[in-house]
Amino acid sequence: MKEATVIDQHAQVLPSSGPKREALREKGQFWTPFWLAKVMAAWVTELRPKTLFDPAVGPGTFFGGARAAGYTGRCEGYELHEISFDGDRLGLSPNDLSRVVVGDFIGAQLSRAFPAIVSNPPYIRHHRLSDERKAELRQIAERVLGFSLDGRVGLHVYFLLKCLEYLASGGRLAFLLPADVCEGISSRPFWNRLCERFRLEAVLTFDESAAPFPKVDTNAMVFLISNNTPLDSIRWIRVRKRDSEAIVRSLRNMKIENRDNTALTCYKRKLTEALATGLSRPPRTALSHGTPLSHFARIVRGIATGANEFFFLTNEQITEFGLEKRYFVRAIGRTRDCRDDTLRTSTLAALEAQARPTWLLNLDGTPKERLPTRLRSYLVAGEKQKLNERALIQGRRPWYKMERRTPPPILFAYLGRRACRFILNEARVVPLTGFLCVYPWDTRHDAVRKLWRALNHPATLENLAFTGKSYGGGALKVEPRQLDTLEIPKAVLQEVGLEPPVATELLLLEEPASLPPRRSVQKSGKMNSTKGFGPTVDKRSRLKNPASGRA
Ligand SMILES: C[S@@+](CC[C@H](N)C(=O)[O-])C[C@H]1O[C@@H](n2cnc3c(N)ncnc32)[C@H](O)[C@@H]1O
Repeated sequence: MKEATVIDQHAQVLPSSGPKREALREKGQFWTPFWLAKVMAAWVTELRPKTLFDPAVGPGTFFGGARAAGYTGRCEGYELHEISFDGDRLGLSPNDLSRVVVGDFIGAQLSRAFPAIVSNPPYIRHHRLSDERKAELRQIAERVLGFSLDGRVGLHVYFLLKCLEYLASGGRLAFLLPADVCEGISSRPFWNRLCERFRLEAVLTFDESAAPFPKVDTNAMVFLISNNTPLDSIRWIRVRKRDSEAIVRSLRNMKIENRDNTALTCYKRKLTEALATGLSRPPRTALSHGTPLSHFARIVRGIATGANEFFFLTNEQITEFGLEKRYFVRAIGRTRDCRDDTLRTSTLAALEAQARPTWLLNLDGTPKERLPTRLRSYLVAGEKQKLNERALIQGRRPWYKMERRTPPPILFAYLGRRACRFILNEARVVPLTGFLCVYPWDTRHDAVRKLWRALNHPATLENLAFTGKSYGGGALKVEPRQLDTLEIPKAVLQEVGLEPPVATELLLLEEPASLPPRRSVQKSGKMNSTKGFGPTVDKRSRLKNPASGRA
């Protein structure tokens, strides 16, 4: 009861949209819920450090959390914006905030290291950062990691790196970060290197019922790190209840062991396993492993039109504009438009009855002058709306030339709140970008159906969590190259009677019994999120992947 009062009293009231919400995003001003600030502050101040440092103070949430947890030392920090500290509400004295510098933490020259650092850094994506800023950030990564990061890494990651640079020997650091820091293709070398240099003590992840930011589309997690020699195990905690005391108790328990109670589950995990699986993801059981989807199919994203409202039409619109159906193909736009796991012609008829678009203007490179008059006028109307100047469209020649896809036998609905599923495309439509196209190597009817059954098997769908990116509210997003790696468990393959293609089997037989351990970090390498990291190509995935070079 007492806990609930604390939560309500300190909660930030977020504007749901509009300029006020945009201003918060621009400045990265989302306050940590007090129940979690208390947990993080309690852990970093457990050894009674002289100073607690927060590089992005905001209203002073963590200082309030530390005082509530009994910390009596000094508070120091940075805050870029002249916002009003909220000392009264957070139980702080004016003195607690007197050592906060109003200025930029990233550019600051710090003269000493800190024994305790806590932060919820500004979550600012790369496209909001200037080139000058990016150059400054690159240097931080080179100093701390020995290599620079992909240009698409956000400011929050550099806050972590700079704080680690100033973490005193034996000191503790707690950071609240979005799960994308350990789910991107470039995150593996990043965490591998950090875990070589620092001790990752624990990771907190949250069920939807305990999400730190329930109405925000990010999956937040907490990293607890110390500047000590790395250990080979970490604590990985799944929090189910916003119960600060239970979480602190679990962290204070010196023994790392598997434990379960109503508020949380604590797993003891091998560091190597946690890094390989992804720190945001639960431990995998041996039974969940299997054959990657790339052995059975090629994955390609759906069609990006660049202007759905112009290219993707309803039956009525086609009639209204006097266009001819022979210039269109049947298509499906939104995952909501197909709620089943089979897409039939009757599904399209139902959509048409609801005035949903199902016709995609499918022009090739034919010059406008050679097209029928009504179609020409329609294209001219598009040019008047400057559609031909839009980012995705302007590179096409001519601008109205549509991307081509053979109707894929299976579609994958890839962004949803636990609604990821594979759809048998009996209607033979092409999908737009709400879907991925799955083209089985074996195109025989029976083989396609077996693959579809195997993919929709609950044990396979569970494995999506080990490939995709997680968002708030339990949503998952899976890109084509990630779907390639989705493993179909052996038991599922047996259940549906599916065998990996013979070519794959041969390649697997050729694989050496033991390859050297994966070491994806190299000093001079540079991360590249599309090609992996520098020259360290993982031979195993190349051997196993019959799709490479063909996608
Ligand atoms: C996510 S909020 C966290 C605030 C507070 N520590 C909390 O957890 O509730 C991040 C804060 O960083 C501030 N900020 C943004 N850029 C900064 C920078 N370059 N240096 C210091 N603070 C910055 C924002 O104004 C914002 O108050």
